[in-house]
Amino acid sequence: MAAEGTRYKSAEETAEYYEFRLPYHRKLFRALARRLRLNKRSQVLDLCCGTGRLTAGIAPFVGQAVGIDNSEYMLSKVPEIANAQFIIHDISKAPFYSGQRFNHFLIGAAIQYIPKDTLCEMIEYSLDRQGAVILCHSWWYRSSSWLLSVNRLRQEYSDRSTRHGYVGDREGDTTLKECLMFMKDHIVLKSTFTFTPDWLINNQLSYSTSAKKMIADKANVSAKILRIVSPHINNGKLSAEMVSEAKIFSRIE
Ligand SMILES: C[S@@+](CC[C@H](N)C(=O)[O-])C[C@H]1O[C@@H](n2cnc3c(N)ncnc32)[C@H](O)[C@@H]1O
Repeated sequence: MAAEGTRYKSAEETAEYYEFRLPYHRKLFRALARRLRLNKRSQVLDLCCGTGRLTAGIAPFVGQAVGIDNSEYMLSKVPEIANAQFIIHDISKAPFYSGQRFNHFLIGAAIQYIPKDTLCEMIEYSLDRQGAVILCHSWWYRSSSWLLSVNRLRQEYSDRSTRHGYVGDREGDTTLKECLMFMKDHIVLKSTFTFTPDWLINNQLSYSTSAKKMIADKANVSAKILRIVSPHINNGKLSAEMVSEAKIFSRIE
């Protein structure tokens, strides 16, 4: 559960396919910059940054962006960004402390990996008094029946205990509340996402709870997914609705 932090599985396998995760909406970062009044003096910390998708998105709007992650495989995929720095750090072992207070913390699909006490301590000692913790996430919206079937197939390869831990604190609200942070703003952006069947197969191989088993059975997985989606392919492409959201939490003062 979130109080202890859920263990992240298969970072090595996941990293190979992470570029196929559902992207963050391209307007999310401009919207965040506006709401948070980001400027070239702003310093932002991306906790459990993975391949740096949030760090890279926010970097053009701030002076300094720092991403931390405990997986060197993930960090080996981060892009070169002039005002960003990436640091290997295991948040389940200790809070990240660089001696500076950041204006904001970003957490993308990773709240479940951060022990509650560690997050509370970091909010206390490394976040500006006026600073926000922003939880970001992208997901399929109103899944069509073929997408539900693909998801069901992935569940067959999933590690159940980890999945339950994640669902238990999926929204992160409880964790943040216990750190005395409350949701003050909410950005939700919806769009239609178009992709190839190959992209979808790679996407399904990118989830930490099922990556290892699915990759080991890749030929079968690919054939099954293609069977499910083939009636819905249009000009070689599939499309589905997706949503990106950012929940902005700040202190009660
Ligand atoms: C679902 S990915 C999210 C990556 C990124 N935030 C994004 O939105 O694209 C979860 C990330 O959390 C990282 N992670 C899991 N446990 C961690 C820990 N104990 N310390 C640091 N990072 C961790 C994983 O390595 C992985 O990169």
